[in-house]
Amino acid sequence: MAKSGAARARPPIGRTPPEVTVDGGSIATTTLLTDGSTDALAVPVAPARAGDDALRPLGGTAEAAARYGVDLAEIGERAGLTGAAGEIYVLQLPRPVGSSVTLPWSGLPPRLVLVGVGSGRPADLRRAGAALARSSRGLRQVVTTLGAEAHQDDSASATAARAVAEGYLLAAYVPPTSSTSGGPARDAAELVLLGRDGRRTAAAVSEGRTAATATWLARDLATTPSSTKTPAWLADQATRLGTEAGLEVVVRGTRELTAEGFGGILAVGAGSASPPRLVTVSWTPPTAGGRHVVVVGKGITFDTGGLSIKPREAMVPMKTDMTGAAVALATVLGAAAAGVAHRVTAVLPLAENHVGGASYRPGDVLTMWGGTTVEVANTDAEGRLVLADALAWADATLDPDVLVDVATLTGAATLGLGKQYAALYSGDQELADALVAAGDASGELAWHMPMVEEYEDAVASQVADLRHVPVDKHIGGGSITAALFLRHFVGARRWAHLDIAGPARAASDKHEITEGATGFGARLLLRYLDDLR
Ligand code: BES
Ligand code: MN
Ligand code: ZN
Repeated sequence: MAKSGAARARPPIGRTPPEVTVDGGSIATTTLLTDGSTDALAVPVAPARAGDDALRPLGGTAEAAARYGVDLAEIGERAGLTGAAGEIYVLQLPRPVGSSVTLPWSGLPPRLVLVGVGSGRPADLRRAGAALARSSRGLRQVVTTLGAEAHQDDSASATAARAVAEGYLLAAYVPPTSSTSGGPARDAAELVLLGRDGRRTAAAVSEGRTAATATWLARDLATTPSSTKTPAWLADQATRLGTEAGLEVVVRGTRELTAEGFGGILAVGAGSASPPRLVTVSWTPPTAGGRHVVVVGKGITFDTGGLSIKPREAMVPMKTDMTGAAVALATVLGAAAAGVAHRVTAVLPLAENHVGGASYRPGDVLTMWGGTTVEVANTDAEGRLVLADALAWADATLDPDVLVDVATLTGAATLGLGKQYAALYSGDQELADALVAAGDASGELAWHMPMVEEYEDAVASQVADLRHVPVDKHIGGGSITAALFLRHFVGARRWAHLDIAGPARAASDKHEITEGATGFGARLLLRYLDDLR
């Protein structure tokens, strides 16, 4: 029987992940384990060192064994644990029957979790944190010493704590649901990182939480169905979130876009009943002296392909074709939350690429912002058109020190690199190196691709300044030729292009990645901003 009552409203966008606190206590003495507040205690195990066949219990595991009166290393061995990163074993301790038996763990959390931390490096600790989050759904509070073993210095221990927290919070994500029949989402528990001290660690954990919050936002926005997520709706979300955070937001509608000559955004949006928008959201730090980084994000709220319509299966995931815009928005909000020392402006060209009586057509010639003319060859290559308008405008009016665009731009990007790497293009080696390093540090990997000059033919036109995609030239390298096209719109700026068509979506949960929209790019860009001097 159908449930009565109105469908539950969609939950709000911009949710906050569980809390993570840093606690200086130890397993041996903390009252967190006896005051009834904690449901589970999680401790690390690592693979044996060479020549040693035993599982290696790490920081906290021996203390837990002592406090519980249980040989945890031996349990791990019997359970067949290897200590690999993300491996997990949940020990549900029994309760006594009657009052005549007192068990050694009486009064302690009845759930002990052994978590593999592998090499103990940040990427492995993120996996360990993620595994813990998945095993802690529905609990209220988990205490852990993961990543708390002795480190060489403060900075290494802060990095370890951050990695555990970030992996935990990323895997704790569950998509917002509008179901009227399902029960409440089983949220992951709040996390206490036990056995570490100091402002530096607390600050690092808070940075990790900011980064995870940004990813949650990007995932929430990309997951929202396109029936809700029109360009106007996305502009409203950006306005609300930006204004709440004290940022400056400017929204342009059809009237302003027409008056100012945004020919690419208008053409792509022309076939849709939901008209396009261009949104800018800016963070200006209180202190001068930083750089100005502009992040342009592709915001196609749904990509049917337009008149060059996509095949049925290819269209299914296209509600996430605005991931670039969501990532740019999440980045500027995250930068503000973290008090980044640089000015950051997100530029979001938002349009729906649909089929209609006013759709743009193959063969049309568009005049882009700034006057460059472009011959359209395939209306499904819409992303580079909205980006070209936004990049040309940002170059001419925002005076950026660094211009970065993020876009689910080409299926071709996934052919060579698969789904775990973004394709990174930049003629500026220093900028490319900094972005690759930010990718390595954050776990959102990027590979520096060549902008092959010989392929420039791909974008030559007989009837306009440029053609936006090659036709019958058998050049290949579809993500390279897209980058070559974009390069015509960035003037002399330091510029990088991130094609995230592969990593923006995941087929299944894996470590810190959750199924569906991944929000890829926000953590990479926030790292880049953190490390920018
Ligand atoms: N949004 C797509 C790219 C895409 C494909 C993203 C698969 C994620 C998964 C983009 O607008 C597109 O359609 N690109 C075309 C370009 C072609 C027409 C030159 C593509 O990749 O096929
Ligand atoms: Mn397309
Ligand atoms: Zn697209």
